[in-house]
Amino acid sequence: METKKKKEIIITDSRVTKLRTIEQLQRLGDTCKGALQLLNSLPLHMAMMATSIAVLKFKDCELDNGDETEIGDRGTNLSGGQKQRISLARAVYSDSDIYLLDDPLSAVDVHVGRHLFHTCIKKTLARKTVILATHQLQYLKHCDEIVAFEDGGIVEKGHHDELLLQNGYYKEMMDKFHYHTNTSMEKQLPIPSKSKNEDTSNSKIATNGVQLEKKDLPKNSSANSVTTNSSANNVTQEKEKGKLTEREEMVVGKVRFGTYKSYINAAGGFMICFLVMLSYTLTMGSVVFSDWWLGIWINTLNTATPNNETNSYSFADSTPSNLSAANLYYTTTSSNNTMNPLPSPENSSGFDFYLLVYVSSLGGIILLTILRGFAGATTTIRASVRLHNNVLKKVMKAPMKFFDSNPSGRILNRFSKDMDEADVFLPQLIDSLLQLLNTIALSLLTTAIVLPWILIAIVPVAILFAILKNISNTSVRQLKRVENVTRSPLLAHVNTTAQGLFTIVPFNQQKQFIENSTKLIDVTSTATFLFESSMRWVEVRLDLSSSMITVATALALVITKGSVAPALAGLSLTMCIKVVGIMQFMVRVMNEVEARFTSIERLHHYEKNLEIEPQTFDTTPSDNWPNEGRIIFSKVEMKYRDNMKPVLRNISFDLHPQMKIGIVGRTGAGKSSLAAALFRLVQLSEGHIYIDGVDVSQIALKNLRSRLSTIPQDPVLFAGTLRYNLDPFGKHPDSELWSSLENVHLKEKVQQFDQDLDYQIEENGENFSVGERQLICLARAILRKNKILLLDEATASIDTQTDSLIQKTIKEEFSDCTVVTIAHRLNTVLHSDRVMIMDNGEVIESGAPQDLLTDPHSFFNTMIAAQTVKTPSP
Ligand SMILES: Nc1ncnc2c1ncn2[C@@H]1O[C@H](COP(=O)(O)OP(=O)(O)OP(=O)(O)O)[C@@H](O)[C@H]1O
Ligand SMILES: [Mg+2]
Repeated sequence: METKKKKEIIITDSRVTKLRTIEQLQRLGDTCKGALQLLNSLPLHMAMMATSIAVLKFKDCELDNGDETEIGDRGTNLSGGQKQRISLARAVYSDSDIYLLDDPLSAVDVHVGRHLFHTCIKKTLARKTVILATHQLQYLKHCDEIVAFEDGGIVEKGHHDELLLQNGYYKEMMDKFHYHTNTSMEKQLPIPSKSKNEDTSNSKIATNGVQLEKKDLPKNSSANSVTTNSSANNVTQEKEKGKLTEREEMVVGKVRFGTYKSYINAAGGFMICFLVMLSYTLTMGSVVFSDWWLGIWINTLNTATPNNETNSYSFADSTPSNLSAANLYYTTTSSNNTMNPLPSPENSSGFDFYLLVYVSSLGGIILLTILRGFAGATTTIRASVRLHNNVLKKVMKAPMKFFDSNPSGRILNRFSKDMDEADVFLPQLIDSLLQLLNTIALSLLTTAIVLPWILIAIVPVAILFAILKNISNTSVRQLKRVENVTRSPLLAHVNTTAQGLFTIVPFNQQKQFIENSTKLIDVTSTATFLFESSMRWVEVRLDLSSSMITVATALALVITKGSVAPALAGLSLTMCIKVVGIMQFMVRVMNEVEARFTSIERLHHYEKNLEIEPQTFDTTPSDNWPNEGRIIFSKVEMKYRDNMKPVLRNISFDLHPQMKIGIVGRTGAGKSSLAAALFRLVQLSEGHIYIDGVDVSQIALKNLRSRLSTIPQDPVLFAGTLRYNLDPFGKHPDSELWSSLENVHLKEKVQQFDQDLDYQIEENGENFSVGERQLICLARAILRKNKILLLDEATASIDTQTDSLIQKTIKEEFSDCTVVTIAHRLNTVLHSDRVMIMDNGEVIESGAPQDLLTDPHSFFNTMIAAQTVKTPSP
């Protein structure tokens, strides 16, 4: 460690980002602390230091439950800056020798950025080699060596002072940076006073040479680890406060009728289902009829030739369906040859008649079987398709808080495993069940007609099986529910692992992820094993019961030898074996159907209970609304969830049409939340937002969202062609697409692609740098030509020079639009008509940038001073 050389290199480049940005905090741990403790063998002081410096240092980054705060999938409940700070904290925590930091300060405000650079990168990592890629040029002079990149190659290399003297690329870049930062304020800027959050008056603790402030230490650190009962309660309450993921629902008890009803409705309604059942009954009836007819035919033949004792019909050949009708008819009529009204099969016309009816009945069986198969398959498939579509519609309309509190694995589970049950298992099981039901019903019917006394024997058997079914059913069903639920964390883990590979691999955490995955697979397999075992449990009991019933019948027949006719004794035994076999099978199928219906129950739960975003249609705005672009916020208060404190508090402002507004403020101040409120991604708890006089809460979401344009903090690109990403609805000609690309300075790059606009973009736009993704999103917004444009850190990952070109484009292209720009890089908003400064969910300062700059005590001035290159290190 002692021999490690201190070295910092800054790579800066106008276009090419060589290193992968750690811009997304994946859900690598369940809590903030978990995310940090990915590397379990690290010295505690590193963990403490990283946690305190990057996460808890500033008041405005305070999470609801400190380092125990649960982080949602892909850090959904964190602000952009918080994600970056935790990513940085995790990197520091890894205690590596070499750090490759790819623009880790792009999403944090200047104060935090400065603090992170000087305290975390300069001091904490003083004995490490740090390679930092950044667009924040103000830090360059504090680095040991600077490497400037352009078009994939190194253009200059050296120390800040040396490079300035060379008067080359670097000097030009710095001049432009100075120009952009300083042109509007060629005046004496006050040296930034220490902000209230950076108060250094707190006593400091030295930990292995690293200075930590007492107030930075995590709340539950060993320094204050003495807990009493009441503090334990407080901890529990605190944990609840930071809790994000809701427990996945698991119903207990029988599958409700509502679930079956939803399936029947999805299949087409009760009438359709009745017709499907009828097709099963008719098919079964046709088989019975065919057998019965054959019996009559044979019997008539026997009657016509009394000497002919040959009877080739065997009970053993009978299928479950023919076991009663034909055989019983034959049995009972063979000893009672009475007048037969049917033609004699002896003459040819009589023979033809029997043959014709028999062949027709066989044809009927074939036709009805095809019809039954078709009806059964289409109905069950229709049911699962409709269920899928209904659930999908519901999920797509769910509010953001649903996605925050439900990990993606849970949603994937419904659409994969639960849908699989509906698509594959249930159709087969329902088919078997309907066949069995018909078989049993017809058997019982014919038995009741021909040998009613057998029914008396069947009743106790039925009762025994019903008891067995009731006993086993509870556990089979509940274990299936457990299996359904345990699969969700596994899917979430697989999803997270796939998305987080670029974080997992550099941190060398594959082993831990494989172990976690194995554990989750074990849990899921255990649940599956238990479910399957419970099915086997009942099957063994059913088998045993069936054997005992058969043995008892056989014994009874042997004991009563002589009192029962041999034919009837044989029939009774055969009937017993068949009926018991069918009933036993039926119990199994019924158990399984109910168990598999728990998946329908889960889908139905989403279909019925999932909250959707409020669809209000009280006001229908005109087609060209908003034609001015005036935005009024009136006493707006917003909470992400009811049990959370508001992230926007009492916000009121009036943005005139065509105004260009810059919104700045600390990380976690509520800037992106303001955008979420405007788009009604989260409902307001108080206040109103008006656009051109229309209260946005009164209009349909579709109307609202289609009339505003935004570029979110995490630029989103979809897998598909560049053309599709620019113009998903195919509304614009190629010439417009090219001109929008030109406006965002991407035309040249796209022209280099062989496929031009048909260039394939990978999932999440992985084959573009973050800055380029932002530019593509901007081109998309230019094409949409809406009156209101909201840019949330849209150029944070773009170099200063391109940023200023983009700002110029925005000014020209959106000259008649209201443009709200959220930015940490202050020169991005310096030319706005108005700047609003947010802190802790409130607007604390607002005014024209020139006015704010002339006031030495303004917050804006403090922020500008923190960003300027003249800023001394703290
Ligand atoms: N989906 C969410 N659920 C719960 N809390 C959230 C959610 N999104 C953001 N927050 C919290 O709301 C606060 C404001 O977040 P917001 O994203 O608006 O900050 P910001 O000003 O945009 O910060 P940054 O500059 O870092 O992007 C933060 O404390 C954040 O943790
Ligand atoms: Mg933000």
